[in-house]
Amino acid sequence: MLKSYEKLSEYYYDEWGNFSLQYLQLLDHIASEYGFSPDSILDIACGTGNLLSALNGMGKQVVGCDMSPQMIAIAKKNNPDVEFHTVNMIDVALNRKFDLAVCAFDSINYLLSENDVSKLFSVVYAHLANGGIFLFDVNTQHIFRDHAGIFKRDINGTTFTQTATYDGEKELACTVFDFGTGEIERHVQKAYDDETIAALLEQNSFEILDTFANIEFAAPTKDAKRLIYVVRKC
Ligand SMILES: C[S@@+](CC[C@H](N)C(=O)[O-])C[C@H]1O[C@@H](n2cnc3c(N)ncnc32)[C@H](O)[C@@H]1O
Repeated sequence: MLKSYEKLSEYYYDEWGNFSLQYLQLLDHIASEYGFSPDSILDIACGTGNLLSALNGMGKQVVGCDMSPQMIAIAKKNNPDVEFHTVNMIDVALNRKFDLAVCAFDSINYLLSENDVSKLFSVVYAHLANGGIFLFDVNTQHIFRDHAGIFKRDINGTTFTQTATYDGEKELACTVFDFGTGEIERHVQKAYDDETIAALLEQNSFEILDTFANIEFAAPTKDAKRLIYVVRKC
């Protein structure tokens, strides 16, 4: 069994990499709503670095962290002038502060306990300047329930099978990618709801500025599939 993103990294940039570019709209939002324009940005779980590339191109000082060596290798190749760290997001310890931190595209759902999410929030707190902003999103149970099933994917001529299940009792989603070559990759993610995330943010001294259900800034309903947070270090 492969580790998550060990093989999927080869397809990630083309198939999913640009999702994180939606965060550029959140940057516009914090500029217009809060007059906040960050110079330095820490991208936690930066993946293949698509968002970092865009931010780097805008002249921001960016640093990327991710646990997957394969994802980091691609991010580095695409952004040779950017600093990267291969590290678990709950262990990031750079000993410096940033204006903004981001953690995009359900990366936090890879943390399988509330305790670890709380650790992440304290790590982010330690890496933010006073008044710094943290942008992130989480998937709720509703998206994992919707995505359950077996799908064939075809990316750049490679066909593979994606089997997704959701265990409502444990609140765990499991996605297995079978590349048809004997290589199988398993991703486990935990669903989070707004109440849990809000409580953990409060425990870690973050003020919630906004919660959205999508990048069009819709207010979340109880059935929201994804929650996007704009929070500030108190
Ligand atoms: C869905 S991808 C998102 C990547 C990127 N943020 C984006 O929006 O394209 C999830 C990323 O989280 C990373 N990841 C998962 N668990 C992690 C952990 N505990 N610490 C650091 N990175 C982790 C994976 O390696 C992967 O790159």
